[in-house]
Amino acid sequence: KLMKVFVTRRIPQEGMKILTTAGVCEVSLWDSDEPVPRADLLKGVQGAHGILCLLSDKIDAEVLDAAGPNLKVISTLSVGFDHLAIDEIKKRGIRVGYTPDVLTDATAELTVALLLATARRLPEGVEEVKNGGWSSWKPLWLCGYGLSGSTVGVIGLGRIGMAIARRLMPFGVKRLLYSGRTAKANAADVNGEFVSLDTLVSESDFIVVSCSLTPETQGLCDKAFFSKMKNTAVFVNSSRGAVVNQEDLYEALTSGQIAAAGLDVTTPEPLPTNHPLLTLKNCVVLPHIGSATYSTRGVMGALSAQNLLGGLQGTDMPSELTF
Ligand code: GLV
Ligand code: GLV
Repeated sequence: KLMKVFVTRRIPQEGMKILTTAGVCEVSLWDSDEPVPRADLLKGVQGAHGILCLLSDKIDAEVLDAAGPNLKVISTLSVGFDHLAIDEIKKRGIRVGYTPDVLTDATAELTVALLLATARRLPEGVEEVKNGGWSSWKPLWLCGYGLSGSTVGVIGLGRIGMAIARRLMPFGVKRLLYSGRTAKANAADVNGEFVSLDTLVSESDFIVVSCSLTPETQGLCDKAFFSKMKNTAVFVNSSRGAVVNQEDLYEALTSGQIAAAGLDVTTPEPLPTNHPLLTLKNCVVLPHIGSATYSTRGVMGALSAQNLLGGLQGTDMPSELTF
């Protein structure tokens, strides 16, 4: 008898194909590009043996209870898992799959693009070309900050943080600082110096947030944090919006406390179009597209499907979250 699987959104066909041809499960799909409403999620998971979800689906005790005792596995199409109530999941003996590694390069690449776009004011420049603000070549116009000779601070030198650091070094970065729970052996590859968060914040010309969202990192970038930054420094976040206190960031950007910010992640997502941050020229906001290349999303789809099948069948999952 086929097991039941609920997939919370249209996913890349590479993943759907694996699920529908495995002969293991019967797939019920929320057949939309928009999020499944909570009530439909609670209904859709009823009796499911497996759930394939996205980072926008909150999987908490209520969802687990709605699914019931059949539930063996939750597979998320993401590397982040802050949307999963891990304690509740663990208590019920449910396995979790996620998609690390396969999105590291794409996410690091996007983070570098966002850093450069923010520091060199690309969106502003594009806008000026379109609105007639480009009157001539002007020595003092649209100047920003370059990486050459700079100090870069990476908060969270994990897989993605390392990949960002590797990409930034060839731009002529002078010092690469990083902070986190522990020093990392592979930091030597980028001449990384393990420093306290305070040192990183006060000495960096560019700060890149690449840590996961945990109770420890929630709201880490707040008023006190921004007040220690250089007035010429650029702040970039491609991890999770909740690491940043956005009101404090807005204040730091408008008061001249910091130079600019580039965000690929916000709270909430999507950010309302009337949000104050969107009125600022020195704030570049992207719609959470770190892993969004065709090939990376295809591989994420396939990996999340394989994780789900492994969990259903009680066999190895290619990327199981161990907790
Ligand atoms: C993206 O943010 C992810 O967690 O995969
Ligand atoms: C964090 O998201 C990592 O992959 O290092």
